[in-house]
Amino acid sequence: MAILVTGGAGFIGANFILEWLGNDLPAIVNIDKLTYAGNIDNLATVAEHADYTFVHGDIADGELVSQILTQHQPSAIINFAAESHVDRSIHGASEFIQTNVVGTLNLLEKTREYWLGLDANEQQRFRFLHVSTDEVYGSLHTDDPAFTESHPYQPNSPYSASKAASDHLVRAYFHTHGLPVLTTNCSNNYGPYQFPEKLIPLVIHNALQGQPLPIYGDGQQIRDWLFVTDHCSAIRCVLEAGEPGEVYNIGGLNEKTNLQVVNTVCDLLDELEPRADGKSYGRQIEFVKDRPGHDRRYAIDASKIETELGWTPRESFESGMLKTVQWYLDNAKWVDRVTSGDYRSWVARHYA
Ligand code: NAD
Ligand code: DAU
Repeated sequence: MAILVTGGAGFIGANFILEWLGNDLPAIVNIDKLTYAGNIDNLATVAEHADYTFVHGDIADGELVSQILTQHQPSAIINFAAESHVDRSIHGASEFIQTNVVGTLNLLEKTREYWLGLDANEQQRFRFLHVSTDEVYGSLHTDDPAFTESHPYQPNSPYSASKAASDHLVRAYFHTHGLPVLTTNCSNNYGPYQFPEKLIPLVIHNALQGQPLPIYGDGQQIRDWLFVTDHCSAIRCVLEAGEPGEVYNIGGLNEKTNLQVVNTVCDLLDELEPRADGKSYGRQIEFVKDRPGHDRRYAIDASKIETELGWTPRESFESGMLKTVQWYLDNAKWVDRVTSGDYRSWVARHYA
């Protein structure tokens, strides 16, 4: 039986599919709407793979989702599809509600109909894994303990509110309908194929273009950074061994301030691609107006997935950052393609 992923042409989904197909696992079907963040080029190397099928479509399209389920008979669904950028959700939230809430609800409902038609064995083995975020838990003070799975939901941005709503729907389909769901709440990812609207690829791109490196507010906000392939291995682990109805927090144990992250990028670029004038890229740092409602600190307590499922991250922050900066240096054409067109108007509007 195949598995179905949604949003597989985005950053995390593409990394997940590339690894999955490199590991001789069941066939994989990918439905993606190809929004500005979805890039079919990410999957060019597997486009002709015998075990890969791409469907261009929207998770909110009920007829299409039902047709895919009937045709491919998946044994699992992994829901990556989302509007994922906090800053864009501040400029306008309706797309976030449409995909993250309405889209997830549609996917759950069509999955339930499909699941009810499976035989008892298949029903028992079936899994719906919902990929969510630590942002649903809100913001921590410096000395607060890290988020556990029982931390109250306190979403502060339209993005995190929409993800929180989707998490609640997923939970409800388990408790009300018995659908075997799993939810993962992960911290900030970084690595290859991340769209350069997010902090790390944005800073790499701007540095190389001689542009300012914008740091919101005082740059002391803390995020818990996880290399993307470690997130993918955690998802595979939860899919294989997670208990239906359970939530698993995933994090990197890498709490860094934004300023530390940007300085790390600058240090690596100084070494790998020095500026023509020999000065540090750090000179391009500029402190700009803060993000409204900016969460101060996120930190994940990943002890549940570590002790119950035996997962641990493989990359340190240092090794992951080196791989990431090197990937962006080696893939300038990919960056050129995704930073043309719409990207330019977003940057002009947002950083004006
Ligand atoms: P992304 O923005 O890079 O990719 C999202 C993908 O979803 C794109 O390919 C896009 O075309 C697709 N998509 C959007 N709307 C769709 C729709 N209606 N139907 C079908 N496809 C649609 O996002 P990402 O960073 O890869 O995040 C993937 C998931 O992981 C999201 O659910 C996000 O909330 C979650 N997450 C992300 C991070 C992170 O740091 N990036 C951390 C934790 C959780
Ligand atoms: O925590 C998980 C979340 O991480 C995911 O759910 C989101 O999909 C993902 O986008 C990410 O959200 P953040 O808002 O934390 O990521 P972003 O890269 O946008 O910003 C990281 C930090 O850097 C944040 O504190 C804001 C800051 N920042 C960001 C940008 C784009 C800046 O200081 N300057 C910038 O130009």
